[in-house]
Amino acid sequence: MTQLASSANAAQAELWNGELGRKWAAEQNDLDNMLAPLGLAGIAKANFRPGENVIDIGCGCGATSLAIAEKIRPGGQALGVDISAPMLERAQARAAAAGAGNAAFTLADASTHPFAPASADAVFSRFGVMFFADPMSAFANIRTALKPGGRACLVVWRPVKENPWVMKSLVIAAKHVVMPAPAGPEDPGPFSFGDPARVTRILEGAGFKNVKLEPQNQLITIGAGRDLDGAVDFLLGIGPIRMILAEQTPALREKVSSEIKTAMAADYGAQGLRMGTATWIVTATNK
Ligand SMILES: C[S@@+](CC[C@H](N)C(=O)[O-])C[C@H]1O[C@@H](n2cnc3c(N)ncnc32)[C@H](O)[C@@H]1O
Repeated sequence: MTQLASSANAAQAELWNGELGRKWAAEQNDLDNMLAPLGLAGIAKANFRPGENVIDIGCGCGATSLAIAEKIRPGGQALGVDISAPMLERAQARAAAAGAGNAAFTLADASTHPFAPASADAVFSRFGVMFFADPMSAFANIRTALKPGGRACLVVWRPVKENPWVMKSLVIAAKHVVMPAPAGPEDPGPFSFGDPARVTRILEGAGFKNVKLEPQNQLITIGAGRDLDGAVDFLLGIGPIRMILAEQTPALREKVSSEIKTAMAADYGAQGLRMGTATWIVTATNK
């Protein structure tokens, strides 16, 4: 693995190499179960073929890189790129355990990494491209990796207000605690690719063509195999609500959690805690 972090993304590098990255690595199985249908919809859309070379940007613990590696055998190579050492360690261990010889991983900042020019048939990402300080220049750099006519397929969140799996707990928390100021429209963060006009501006500004955004509304299973309390506790440990609750007193945290559990009983059934998500599948081509 090589290390390369631009100063502009230093804060993100710190975040994903610190407690957050270690948490994603430790909870990789549950997070992958939760996010699997969203990534698989993107992988289906990308229509990867045997023999293709594909780069998975912000690949984290490698679930989508490994799924792509399967699709492009024989002859194809999947390269996962991520800024988080603990998450990439997990990815590498999984690839070794699965005997996925055509999946490799590089520790690097995708916004500045010197990719082998015109080497990839496609770039893919499941929720790994919304954290660049300067997304247009990051995508211009990522585009250098693509062959002429190469394609991009990105799964990103639509605005937080359209995502009940996040909003429902935030609305309840807002009744009891002072909420943080919302992120600015150009700030990096999980919901920063929600606005189609912004995504199109970024990708076209980076030199991509044929930018299209297709909305997906899918149910996900949160904390599969847990009872209602356990599944909600899992949910409250991820996403924006995690930081909000962490700053409260234990008593207030307990009050908010308990109200969220009561409200989410309506979302809990035979398949566990099932909640709605809203994503874009963004596709584009290199010239
Ligand atoms: C929400 S996680 C998604 C991880 C993975 N794609 C998944 O779906 O499980 C975002 C990922 O983007 C990575 N990331 C953030 N900024 C990055 C950058 N500049 N270059 C490469 N990876 C980055 C993080 O380290 C993290 O693994």
